[in-house]
Amino acid sequence: MMRKREGQIGNCGSHSREGKMRVKQTIFISILLLSLALSFNVRPEETPVRIGFLLDTLKLERWQRDVKLVQARAEELGAKITVKSAEGDDDLQLQQANQLLDAGVNVLLVVAHDAEKAGAIVQAAQRKGVPVISYDRLIKNSPVSLYISFDNVQVGKLQASMVLAAAPKGRFFLLEGPPSDNNALQFERGQKLALQEAVDAASITIFEEEWCHQWNRTAAYEATAAALKKSDGKIAAIVAANDELAGGAIQALKDRKLAGRIPVSGQDADLPGVVRIIRGTQTMTVYKPLGPLAKRAVDAAVALAHGSKPATSESIPNGAYTVPAILLQPIAVDQKNLGATVISDGFHTAEEIKKALSPGEWEKFSTRKR
Ligand code: GAL
Repeated sequence: MMRKREGQIGNCGSHSREGKMRVKQTIFISILLLSLALSFNVRPEETPVRIGFLLDTLKLERWQRDVKLVQARAEELGAKITVKSAEGDDDLQLQQANQLLDAGVNVLLVVAHDAEKAGAIVQAAQRKGVPVISYDRLIKNSPVSLYISFDNVQVGKLQASMVLAAAPKGRFFLLEGPPSDNNALQFERGQKLALQEAVDAASITIFEEEWCHQWNRTAAYEATAAALKKSDGKIAAIVAANDELAGGAIQALKDRKLAGRIPVSGQDADLPGVVRIIRGTQTMTVYKPLGPLAKRAVDAAVALAHGSKPATSESIPNGAYTVPAILLQPIAVDQKNLGATVISDGFHTAEEIKKALSPGEWEKFSTRKR
């Protein structure tokens, strides 16, 4: 082994050969590690995971909140999020998926507009070896890597059972979302399960059932107005599948001075829904704490991008496949537990609600004995 002489620079042959050899070795080892990582589709830890978040719509308060929560968790994990909303257009949603896949995202979070048509997004992602997470809504007949949502049949059960408790007799009007949304089908199934006994006992009848395109408030208003006309206002209860539809239905009840006299359900605990519950024109909403949903979805996305399988609590059949699933629990909310749920979680602050109410309404509500 040659000894180094003090102060001599760069003209010693053996030194440069050694140096070159070390450089070659380093390059070789990193190529080896990289190809190993790529062969297992594992991302080098240091490169930020890129997540594509495809939404059906951003018009509703609920989805705007999902985006904020998903972005916040991604930031915590050093992941990059790109958000795109298709505003109810299936072709556009597929286009947006292809754009993100071409741009090199590592995983897709998808809120499918159409449970079947979104299968094309999963196929496109599969061709690129990119995992897909079915966010909140199940994509049917496709090999998604994970389905994460709430127990949506339970959502429907909570809606119908609380309205039934308020109106145990008479004609029920069911106001559903679009059947293209797998959740809408599950909500309806839960509602009917909760009403079955009362139907069998002939204490209630399901007078009408309407499926509202795009979860549209105006469609809900028109369908309710038509049902009220047809029944000459003799409807005992309205089981509305979310707050947006409930808002439309309650507007139609208002037109006939029936608001607050006919129980109406909802979902999402959006601010207008909470205000109506405080005013007594809406009976309840289903609160779905979105923080845990968003957090677990992003954690799973990062895990999948690094090639590992996220821990799941169960698996769900989606037609052609059985997919890993995480289902969170929804919470029924009415005047009695609004404070202990939606407000104590900070989903809406008392300040925010107060601002949305007329002067004195909050004081009257918050001091009233329940
Ligand atoms: C459902 C979702 C609900 C509701 C609706 C309208 O799939 O679970 O929270 O908001 O979409 O976008």
